[in-house]
This record gives sequence, structure tokens and C-alpha cells, in this order.
Amino acid sequence: MSEPDGKQPSRRSWAEPYKIKVVEPLKMTTPEQRRRAIAEAGFNTFLLRSEDVYIDLLTDSGTGAMSDNQWAGMMLGDEAYAGSRNFYNLEATVREYYGFRHVIPTHQGRGAEHILSQIAVHDGDFVPGNMYFTTTRLHQELAGGQFVDVVIDEAHDPENEHPFKGNVDLDKLKRLIDKVGAKRIPYFCLHTTVNMGGGQPVSMDNIRETSHLCHNHGIRVFLDATRAVENAYFIKVRDAAFHDVSIVAILLQICSFADGCTMSGKKDCLVNIGGFLALNDDDLADEARNMVVIYEGLHTYGGMAGRDMEAMARGIVESVQFDHVRARVGQVEYLGERLIQAGVPVMRPVGGHGVFVDAKAFLPHVPQSQFPAQALAAALYVDSGVRGMERGAVSAGRDAITGENRLPKLELVRLTLPRRVYTQAHMDVTAESIVDLWDKRDRICGLEFTYEPKYLRFFRARFKPTIGAEILRDQDAPTPGAQPSTTR
Ligand code: F0G
Repeated sequence: MSEPDGKQPSRRSWAEPYKIKVVEPLKMTTPEQRRRAIAEAGFNTFLLRSEDVYIDLLTDSGTGAMSDNQWAGMMLGDEAYAGSRNFYNLEATVREYYGFRHVIPTHQGRGAEHILSQIAVHDGDFVPGNMYFTTTRLHQELAGGQFVDVVIDEAHDPENEHPFKGNVDLDKLKRLIDKVGAKRIPYFCLHTTVNMGGGQPVSMDNIRETSHLCHNHGIRVFLDATRAVENAYFIKVRDAAFHDVSIVAILLQICSFADGCTMSGKKDCLVNIGGFLALNDDDLADEARNMVVIYEGLHTYGGMAGRDMEAMARGIVESVQFDHVRARVGQVEYLGERLIQAGVPVMRPVGGHGVFVDAKAFLPHVPQSQFPAQALAAALYVDSGVRGMERGAVSAGRDAITGENRLPKLELVRLTLPRRVYTQAHMDVTAESIVDLWDKRDRICGLEFTYEPKYLRFFRARFKPTIGAEILRDQDAPTPGAQPSTTR
């Protein structure tokens, strides 16, 4: 496939580089049904039944559509317990496109994070990274480590238009190394792109400099390569030095600065399940294989069926095609632009895998302790059946040492786009609902916990509205903070 340069040709649109062969009907619901469904779900969109959702933008994880070529590959699944041919195909494909020597399959990304954390992190260690991710940080903490955020300050400012907002602040990293010593830092955890920061990319210069700084101190660098292809796309279109370089070459260059990666195949790799840990170091890979057989499965399947490994191998090849990534990120940008034009506060620039609505700015009357992003996600569902996800104080959880609620600077509702699933018309319907909500935002109130799980609480927590029983009140209901009127 020919690869145009990264500059968009003027006056020419792009279109999805595929046509639709199979469709899955969507269920339409009434506002009354949705009010009931969200109350039953404890105002947590994770607890809704998927059947009750119209447009599902909860996550881009495992929700993409596979190609006919991937489905054909599923029929070639070799379900042998050991040494499946699909494993060797996957191994060769990861080596070719990501460049790492050892490939250890896992059931999904957190399986790889678990193993890497257990073999590399020790009690009292510090793991720096460009913003946390929920499962990644938890595995580092469970292994005795402490995550330290060294992303640039711009990443925490929803309005800042920095083109590479996922960049590492090298001074922050140097200060950490000076303070705790390189020996207490088992590795640097480099996210490409930064999920919790709005899907923001890291520049190639920054990746190189971070890698050099770490390696000069004997600190290894492991990528979270879950969305590294999307990061490669941003490097291509935003950095003039890479306009004429292919996604394939950029991805390989990104990986060349790292010692390995964890991967959730459910995103860039275009599959519904799967992941891997990739490493260059022979001894570390041996330790990882020791662990994988305990927790995931044999080192040649790691929790995946042979057919799933085949689908992932084929998905990786499709994922690095320029036309695919341009249409994928282009659809996210389309939704983002519609919201920006309507004056809705969203994280800028629009990221790679979703549009992140700034819930603090959207609901200024709801204090962060009442979880404005959680409330906005619930209200959006009631309005139109669109399901988004909270990425704010609920996701941030409690401080591992003090037990206090973490109140992150970013309080966001993530509208995450599954790959190759929805059309631009679905984006229009979504945008219209959010713009309507923006006009009636004072009718949305905050939430308080009725149940708070110990780990990764956002997945299963339950809430109730701070005022009345509805998250999105009718027009004539009292406004938040207003005194109830008395008839006496
Ligand atoms: N790293 C990043 C950056 C992720 O976004 C995820 C998952 C993981 C690791 C863990 O991978 O789910 O396969 O175990 N993110 C999903 C999301 C859950 O919705 O953002 P996993």
C-alpha cells in the first residue's frame, strides 16, 4: 500500500479504508428505560448491560472490528497446547514490527504488566513514568514499588495545545534520579500514547532523550506500547522530520530506544483479546517465561487460544498501514472538532483514541469530591444512550500510603472510539447529545459512593446522586444548592 506523506492533501477528504460486510443491530432505548438502567447500575457506566447501550464509547479495548483476513486466520488456529504455529507467526510479526527479540504472550495487557512488575520491581523501588495508567500502576505498587509521575506540566492542562503532551519532563526525571538513586529505579515506564492524559503522544526526540538519560544511569526503559502505532502516526504528521517516513519505520525507531514493552493487543493490534510482553534481555526473558507458566499459560500461548494469536499477528500487520491509522485517528479528531466548534470544553489537542471532555469545566457547580466526570458520563447515557467512561478522581483511587482520595488535575469523561466500528453518523449523534447536555448542564448534580471496591474501584463502584434520585433532572427540578421552597 502506498504511503502518502504526513501532510494532509488540501481539499481532499479521507474515507474509511474498508467496506462493511457484517452488521450488528443496535438496540434503541427510551429515556425512561435509560434512567432505570443507570440507577440499577449505581450510576457507573461500567455496570450497564451492553445491550442497553446505543453507541458504546466506553473503551477502545477489545471492542474493534476484525477484518475478513483476521477472521480467516481464526480458522487456521492451531490449538495445540505447546508450540502452536500461530505463536511462531505472532512471535515473528512482533519481532518484525516492534523489533524486540523475546515475545511472551499473555492473556491481555495487565498480564504482561503483572509479570514485568514481579520480575523487575522490588520493595521500596520507584517507577517513573509519563503519567500513570490504572492497571500498570497497581501492578507496580503490588510488587512493592511507587509510581512517580514525570510527565511535562502541560499534560495536566486540558487547554494547552502542546503537540506532544505525553512528553517526559527530563528535569523531573533527573531530580528523581538524584534524590533516590538509579539503583532504586528498576525501569522507566514510557507510555506511547498517554491514555490518562487524553491519548497524547510522545515526540521521537523526547523518547530518544529519555532513553539516553535512563541508559546513562543504567536504568532500563520499558514501553507501554498499547497505542504506540497511534503515537507513530502523530510523530509522522506533527514532526516535519518524519512526514516522509513510514509508520512502520517510525514504530521500529520508537521501539529501538526501549529494552522491551508491555502490550495490550486489544487496542492497536486490532483484536478482542490478547497481549504480550516483549524483551531484549535473555535473562529477564527467562524469568518472565518462568512467571508466565504460573499465571498465564505455557510460554507459547500465555492465556490465548491459537486462533487469537493468529488474529493478533494479522492485526498487527493491518494496524501499521497508514490509511488505517489516518482513518482511525481522523474519526477521533472529527468528533473532537465538532465538540470544540460548539464550545464544549474538551482536552486539546484531540488525542489518538478518544475525545476527553473536561468535566471540571463542564460542571463547575459540582466539586471534584462529588465526581463530576462520573456524573457527566451517567447523564450522557441518560440523554442519548451513549456510554463514555470516567477518567478522574474515581479512576485515580486512593493514595497507597495515606489512603486519601487522589484528586487529579484532570477530571475527564472519555469518549473512546472502537477501531473500525462506528460511522461518522454515529459521531454526529454523539456530538449532538453532548452539545445538548452542555446547554442543560446545570441540571446535572454530583455523586457520592454507596459502594467502593478496594482495587481499581472505578470498574465496580456504585453511587447515588447528591440531590434527589436523578442524575439529569427535569427542567423544573430545583437547581443544585437551591433551598427547597416551603408552602407555609
Ligand atoms: N496500558 C494502557 C495504556 C491501557 O490503556 C490499558 C488498558 C492497559 C495497559 C491494560 O491492558 O486491558 O489489556 O489488561 N486500557 C483499557 C482502557 C482498559 O479502557 O483504556 P488490558
